[in-house]
Amino acid sequence: MTEQVQIFEVGPRDGLQNEKAKISSEQKIELVDLLSDAGFSKIEVTSFVSPKWVPQMKDAPIVMKGIKRKPGVTYAALTPNKMGYQFARKAGADEVAIFAAASETFSQRNINCSIADSIERFQPVIEAATADKIPVRGYISCAVACPYEGAIDPEAVARITKILLDIGCYEISLGDTIGAGTPETIVAMLEAVLKVTEADKLAGHYHDTGNRALNNIEASLEKGIRTFDSAIGGLGGCPYAPGAKGNISTSAVVDMLHRQGFETGIDRAALDPIEVFVGKLVTEAIEDSKQKLH
Ligand code: HMG
Ligand code: MG
Repeated sequence: MTEQVQIFEVGPRDGLQNEKAKISSEQKIELVDLLSDAGFSKIEVTSFVSPKWVPQMKDAPIVMKGIKRKPGVTYAALTPNKMGYQFARKAGADEVAIFAAASETFSQRNINCSIADSIERFQPVIEAATADKIPVRGYISCAVACPYEGAIDPEAVARITKILLDIGCYEISLGDTIGAGTPETIVAMLEAVLKVTEADKLAGHYHDTGNRALNNIEASLEKGIRTFDSAIGGLGGCPYAPGAKGNISTSAVVDMLHRQGFETGIDRAALDPIEVFVGKLVTEAIEDSKQKLH
């Protein structure tokens, strides 16, 4: 039997949160609809965060409410606190994600609190989501390296993984936020994390700054990981991780997986026109913002 790998498409959120140029809500909705038609079963649509912190995502309710919902597709959103959860729920998110970090400095810069305080803040999100039967995913940023603190101890990642699973996350997405990981550092981190949980509770979320993300996915496959986050067209970065490049490009991951005989459920041919759409979207938005400056 062919083995399945789950691709979690995060381009509309992780990608577009980092675009300085203005992308309209209609364009964001069109992107999500194209992704639904291409066979993705999990799409991270947007984030319900403070518009002062990430203005690119301030139209989250419009986008979440505007998409055409395809049966069988999970439309997810980031929610850093109870307020974000309530907005996401009202807008119809099927799944939410809380996001912690393995680095104290990154936690402060990204969500304005310590790691311990962030866990406290996530509890009411989990309680509300559990009552509503909404699955909660957990992210851990800086799972191998931090833009402010450098290399991160794999044991710190394992500790936070356990906490997030214990409070009720169904899966932990391990973020190489700045794309500094190599197969060696990723495997060292996974080996520590696999002492506290099973591979089927983990996902790889690797940015491609060092052009190693694909190698890191291959190394993770060998460790039994079968869920990976990727972004169409390699869109993305993180506004609080200077220099962070986009997530690994979805078509690159799908090509590699299909070549290795894994099934993804994704219509590979449908990705090319979506990449063209994304390329145009970003170029036009940049041109538009340049004209406004003149
Ligand atoms: P804070 O300033 O400490 O929060 O920010 P606060 O509770 O004091 O609220 C400040 C203001 O924000 C208030 O408004 C709140 O109402 C409002 P004011 O009274 O000043 O007008 N507010 C909100 N508005 C809308 N939705 C909300 C919300 N919460 C508060 N949910 C906070 C704390 C967490 C809110 C802020 O730091 C924040 O929004 N951070 C998000 C940063 C972010 O989105 N980063 C990118 C995503 S993470 C990422 O990309 C990494 C990942 O991809 C994995 C990887 O690659 O590693 C997931
Ligand atoms: Mg990311």
